[in-house]
Amino acid sequence: MDEYRRRNREHWEELARIHPGTNFYDVEAFLDGESTLRPLECEAIGNVEGCSMLHLQCHFGLDSLSWAREGADVAGVDFSDTAIEAARDLAAEADLTGRARFLATDVYDLPERLADAHGTFDLVFTSYGVLGWLPDVEAWAEVVAAFVQPGGRFYIAEIHPVSHALMDLRLDTGVWDRPGRTSATVRSNSTRKERMPTRTPQSNTRRLTSGPTPRARS
Ligand SMILES: C[S@@+](CC[C@H](N)C(=O)[O-])C[C@H]1O[C@@H](n2cnc3c(N)ncnc32)[C@H](O)[C@@H]1O
Repeated sequence: MDEYRRRNREHWEELARIHPGTNFYDVEAFLDGESTLRPLECEAIGNVEGCSMLHLQCHFGLDSLSWAREGADVAGVDFSDTAIEAARDLAAEADLTGRARFLATDVYDLPERLADAHGTFDLVFTSYGVLGWLPDVEAWAEVVAAFVQPGGRFYIAEIHPVSHALMDLRLDTGVWDRPGRTSATVRSNSTRKERMPTRTPQSNTRRLTSGPTPRARS
């Protein structure tokens, strides 16, 4: 493994130890039934009931598990052993092990690690903070293409890295925040993601199952 990949992985191992305890990721709300997905990806992707999904660079699995709650059969992949271990623990705690599995591997090694076992997927998904860490985007795109089944879809929602130049990386939590904030907590309306509604009987009317019909390819 080259020096860049080694150091990048070390960085993410460290963040995977810190992030689950931060309010930014809000594991407690997830376990209470709240989805971590945003309207942007939910509206674009639509109904995922019964959909096989490969989630690349899934971190510790909150979004993967949120998709599983919506009915997808999800395989989450990340190169941080710590993140994958946390994702598996959360899957068990949320009673989602039947619909979500996690694999610790560098995404570039995925064709050797996954090909025979799982073939291709209806949807390859990845989001928010993934491209900027990759040493070779073209090779990564080839991995993506190898796992989208004919007629399937690839979906990405990404943040422009320039936005990070306008924010501070909080060293206590490892999350990005508005410049100059010094308080000890990261939870605030301005830093929390815009979430899908909590899964209550009332909000079920806004679940993905009532969303737009999936397109053949995006
Ligand atoms: C910003 S996080 C993704 C966060 C995710 N969107 C979320 O909200 O939970 C980027 C993830 O990419 C993973 N990653 C970076 N390079 C990778 C690689 N080459 N192979 C696999 N995972 C990688 C990191 O371990 C990290 O979990």
